[in-house]
Amino acid sequence: MRSALVTGGAGFIGSNLAEALIAGGVEVRVLDDLSSGYAINLEQIPEADFVEGSVTDAAIVGEAVRGCDVVFHLAASVGNKRSIDDPLADATTNVLGTLNVLEAARVHDVDKVVYASSAGVFGELETPPIAEDHPLEPDSPYGVSKLAGEKAVLAYAKLYGMGGIALRYFNVYGPNQRFDQYGNAIPIFVFQMLRGEPVTVFGDGEQTRDFVNVADVVQANIKAALTRGVGGAFNIASGTRISINDLVGRIAGFVGGDVEIGYGDPRPGDVLHSLADVSAARRSFGFDPEVDIDAGLAGYVAWARAEVERVR
Ligand SMILES: NC(=O)c1ccc[n+]([C@@H]2O[C@H](COP(=O)([O-])OP(=O)(O)OC[C@H]3O[C@@H](n4cnc5c(N)ncnc54)[C@H](O)[C@@H]3O)[C@@H](O)[C@H]2O)c1
Repeated sequence: MRSALVTGGAGFIGSNLAEALIAGGVEVRVLDDLSSGYAINLEQIPEADFVEGSVTDAAIVGEAVRGCDVVFHLAASVGNKRSIDDPLADATTNVLGTLNVLEAARVHDVDKVVYASSAGVFGELETPPIAEDHPLEPDSPYGVSKLAGEKAVLAYAKLYGMGGIALRYFNVYGPNQRFDQYGNAIPIFVFQMLRGEPVTVFGDGEQTRDFVNVADVVQANIKAALTRGVGGAFNIASGTRISINDLVGRIAGFVGGDVEIGYGDPRPGDVLHSLADVSAARRSFGFDPEVDIDAGLAGYVAWARAEVERVR
């Protein structure tokens, strides 16, 4: 891989991926409209050629894809809540945007498209561990649009002979993940504790989740891109689980000081337990999640502490 386009490269996962690709000697272009990404993430990757624009604009996507061997397609309207608030905006970016990326990849002879899918494609999770053959019954517009994108990538790979692979991330956390109204559990808990605010756990806290560090998601993307002949859809997760009570306790330990923890009603639709089977990715392209939760949380709390200072 000599050159790569990272769509969504100003975002949380995309900026980490772009940084690792650059460190590995790959020429990187980023296409991002900065709708949920941050210009400050791009300051970490000054070597990247930044194209500001939307994946919904076919002409800009064509220009951005031209000359790249691999496209990592991460740009998306992210999250169930955002999609429930505005399903059409979700589909426009995630379905039509993905088709624009695929068309450009076909026209410009890209070797492989690596697509950021989501565990949201499964919908309500059955008894874990969750393997790739779990039923696909998404229960939000976001889950539907990520599944449509995934299927489009795999259909293009079949029809036009280009490489295509979909990586279904579970709960990703790590540096550059900011706290916002759509935030995930770890940034919410960490930022609230760092600001001395009380933390609310929904339900009894005994529900479990599979949290994967962004460094392992980056590793998965690069290995998936570099492994010839591998295609299909794969779970990307840590393959381990932790209860929310345990998680909150560990974060409190890293943050230090007094932490006020309260309990609220369980949120409707929240799954009780989530744990991925990652053996297919391990077998097919050597995915090997290696950041354990304590090392990952320590690194994230250190990053978030600096971020809280920066915006103060
Ligand atoms: N964070 C997670 O836990 C998680 C889990 C499963 C899947 N994913 C997937 O990973 C990818 C990256 O997510 P993230 O967590 O880094 O979120 P993010 O919001 O930080 O990154 C998304 C990026 O896409 C950009 N973007 C949005 N719409 C765009 C458009 N129309 N044109 C160009 N750029 C656009 C945003 O500005 C942002 O920089 C997404 O495809 C998401 O669906 C994330």
